[in-house]
Amino acid sequence: MERHPIILDCDPGLDDAFAILLAAASPAIDLRAITTVAGNHTVDRMTLNARRVCTVAGIRDVPIAQGCDRPLVRPQIVGSDIHGESGLDGPTFGPPTVPTDPRHAVDLIIELLLASDGEITLVPIGPLTNIATAMRREPRILPKIRHISLMGGAWGLGNRTPAAEFNIVVDPEAARIVFESGAPITMCGLELTHQVIATPGIIDRIAAPGTPVAEMAAAMLRFYASTTARRRRSFGPALHDPTAVAWVIDPTLFEAEAMHVDVETHAEFSYGRTLVDVDDVLGLPKNAIVPTRIDAARFWDLLIDALASYHA
Ligand code: RIB
Ligand code: CA
Repeated sequence: MERHPIILDCDPGLDDAFAILLAAASPAIDLRAITTVAGNHTVDRMTLNARRVCTVAGIRDVPIAQGCDRPLVRPQIVGSDIHGESGLDGPTFGPPTVPTDPRHAVDLIIELLLASDGEITLVPIGPLTNIATAMRREPRILPKIRHISLMGGAWGLGNRTPAAEFNIVVDPEAARIVFESGAPITMCGLELTHQVIATPGIIDRIAAPGTPVAEMAAAMLRFYASTTARRRRSFGPALHDPTAVAWVIDPTLFEAEAMHVDVETHAEFSYGRTLVDVDDVLGLPKNAIVPTRIDAARFWDLLIDALASYHA
């Protein structure tokens, strides 16, 4: 099996935690680094949460580097209404024993890409501030990026505003830099990720092993279910972020099409919207692969098998 080297750029975040656990457990992934960015909450909390998840799971050989603490231009917003005030509510954590790498996330992303032979895939599953900053600070990384598999955007309604999905609207200018960079992108948007909802039956399957990871995962999902239930269109706890990792592991789980995607950075009400040319009405270059369908049953088997592989 080919092992894909990735850098996971995240804002843990309840669904981010599952992306970390999936990536670290998968034999198809060589997790080179976990980098954090301000998103679901402040970047300090995001880094602490990444350390907490890695401590419980015994993930000790992956550097965790803290990144940008605010968007490039707009005022910061957070996602505590869904993820809680810690950014990872649900479980009770002891003190983390996994350290923070002393390098800034942007420096580490640049360092790893420049030292590579172009084999690294970036997997951003939070706002794109770190990725955009790295691209602007060191354009020489662009030809070194094998692929960007990101969670973000939507072609229909958003989830932070009626127009915009959270990861994009937290830092629209960063997202625009990334989508206009020319790097090969896969955009796992809301229409895809709302196909993988952690139902009570799924949560029971995840909890079944009774290990520390299983208990942590179930507690996160039960909290996540409680906060998403408040939404009018209550999809339930969608596992958005692991889909971007699953794309790297096994693209056959997906149906996808190449589409042109723009990011709105100058509008009052639709600021941060991804304009996805689903019908190719503009005939513009296709700058993103957009998965439209996922085999949910196989996705859950992949994720639940990964979670069950943690015996700590
Ligand atoms: O819109 C879903 C995205 O926003 C996910 O990455 C979730 O973690 C939140 O950051
Ligand atoms: Ca996230």
